[in-house]
Amino acid sequence: MASRVLHPSAKFNSLCRLGSTPRSPVSPISRIITPPSSTRTFSFSLQRPFQSTKYVMSTDALIQAAQNRHSIYKLGKNSPVPDAKIEELVNAAILNVPSSFNTQSTRLVILLHDQHDRLWDIAAEAFRERVAAGSLAEEVWKNQTEPKLQGFKNAYGTILFYEDPAHIKPFQEKFPAYKDHFEPWAVQSNAMHQYFLWTALETLGFGANLQHYNPLIDAPVAKEWSLPTEWRLVAQLVFGSPEAEGAEKPKKPVEERVKFYGKQ
Ligand SMILES: Cc1cc2nc3c(=O)[nH]c(=O)nc-3n(C[C@H](O)[C@H](O)[C@H](O)COP(=O)(O)O)c2cc1C
Repeated sequence: MASRVLHPSAKFNSLCRLGSTPRSPVSPISRIITPPSSTRTFSFSLQRPFQSTKYVMSTDALIQAAQNRHSIYKLGKNSPVPDAKIEELVNAAILNVPSSFNTQSTRLVILLHDQHDRLWDIAAEAFRERVAAGSLAEEVWKNQTEPKLQGFKNAYGTILFYEDPAHIKPFQEKFPAYKDHFEPWAVQSNAMHQYFLWTALETLGFGANLQHYNPLIDAPVAKEWSLPTEWRLVAQLVFGSPEAEGAEKPKKPVEERVKFYGKQ
């Protein structure tokens, strides 16, 4: 097997090709990329075709993207990029986020424009039914839930994160020793997709927040978009133009949360 030099950040290719964003203070990806020559390379036995790396995303840029991700709730209907960029980002997530035993059980549904609006109308209908059934107080609906849902509807789009059990069960049967682990591993991988997209959407200039209206909306959503009813909805990522800056949340001390041994 030929030994070749491959830049370690080749996996970031898709992200680095994404468009820039006008939103400050997040640096547009196109401006925070650095040429390959300035970063370390390493050799290993190549098992797939060599991919040349035109641009490299620096580690600092990755940290900056993580630091700039916040929950942003006041969102609008403008977009800094064409919808094709969102599609490219979502495809980058589905192709590059890892899963246990490579199960690839996560499914993503992207709703933009009128489809996004329809989602939040469906959520509102589900809550109105609860009010009619007496399981949600009218006052709570009017003063809290309805304005919140309207806030989500005001945004540009929503990504629905699902797990497909049909791609988990065969692994549970094949590897009985790990049977009970596959479900939590699937949710962990699903969360990696959520984090990747949340962070990356914010590097594009969107604001976003993560919601959990499952399982209340699972059935009507599956019906509306003809999704397999077996798919289990895990989370909803709402995104749109940030109409307010995300606030930095209090951080517990690093020393309480990280133990680091063997540093030289
Ligand atoms: C696993 C997970 C579940 C969350 N669920 C919700 C949710 O249901 N509704 C919501 O408004 N925010 C939700 N959040 C957002 C968190 O409250 C938020 O990320 C946290 O307070 C830190 O704030 P930041 O996102 O601005 O850094 C969730 C975040 C995570 C990681």
